[in-house]
Amino acid sequence: MKKVLVIYYTQSGQLLDISKNITQELEDSVEVDLSYYEIKLKKNFPFPWNKKAFFNSFPETFLQIETDLVDLENPILQGKYDLIILSYQVWYLSPSIPVNSFLKNDIAKPLLENTPIITVNGSRNMWIMAQEKIKILLTNNNANLVGNIALVDRHINHISVITIVHWMMTGLKTKYLGVFPKPGVSDKDIKESSKFGPIILKTLLSSKFNDLQNQLLDKKAVKIKPFLIVMDKRANILFGKWARFIFSKGKPNSKERQPYIKLFSIYLVIAIWLIAPIVFLLFLLTFIPFTRKRISDKKYYSSVQLKKD
Ligand SMILES: Cc1cc2nc3c(=O)[nH]c(=O)nc-3n(C[C@H](O)[C@H](O)[C@H](O)COP(=O)(O)O)c2cc1C
Repeated sequence: MKKVLVIYYTQSGQLLDISKNITQELEDSVEVDLSYYEIKLKKNFPFPWNKKAFFNSFPETFLQIETDLVDLENPILQGKYDLIILSYQVWYLSPSIPVNSFLKNDIAKPLLENTPIITVNGSRNMWIMAQEKIKILLTNNNANLVGNIALVDRHINHISVITIVHWMMTGLKTKYLGVFPKPGVSDKDIKESSKFGPIILKTLLSSKFNDLQNQLLDKKAVKIKPFLIVMDKRANILFGKWARFIFSKGKPNSKERQPYIKLFSIYLVIAIWLIAPIVFLLFLLTFIPFTRKRISDKKYYSSVQLKKD
């Protein structure tokens, strides 16, 4: 009997839906004992979000500062597993605070150490650098990343920005104004994520995880858009400066912090609507000279390797 644990956090339930579909095959197998563990916060974030909470979570998310968790004495966390599936969402180009807090908690190392891990992420589309941060957190726990499945909103960047704001601020995964497409990972992609189950089950039963990511890639577990790598990297540099600056001005939600939070929210609008198109233009202008880099980046960010530099 193989023991599998899914560790997850979700606000809308999207990530749980994805995880359930991915693990359906394991759930149905008599050879697998499957458990779920939901990361719980002492003080949870609101959903739907309000503007203040949404932007105030930025510095701590980006600086990967932990928050207090509860339910860590749960017996599920005391066992060892043959496979752990870590389902996380990206906040501000980083692992969300709940997931980051879990991976930095003392509970994580004994649980994850020497254990094969599959990461599953359900984000808007900017997840690549967050996954690099997850790779580091897993390495710090001596865990063994063997697979990654990244599901995203497939609509063009600017459309998904508009629709996700509607979703996050109302809690409704519906068509904004009745004309925009539905936000987030499409119902079709969520449903079809069950296609990864048989591959995972076969690998689990044979305990041969070496080739798992290649097999997941064959099933389109990850789609890398080279422009988003460029954007993600650039934005990480600027977000770092903003996060340290705002963090130095006061605690989350404090009065002292609010003017800077406001400035950041304006910056974000400018970055998305003005800077991103300029970066895209530069990306197109340098498309040919950067061909080799683009190919090697695509290969690396699709993989479960962590660059040592
Ligand atoms: C505060 C916040 C910041 C987010 N930042 C990003 C981001 O940088 N990149 C991205 O692709 N998605 C981002 N998202 C979308 C989430 O990754 C995720 O898709 C969405 O919150 C739904 O997740 P759920 O399963 O928790 O409901 C963000 C969401 C929130 C709430």
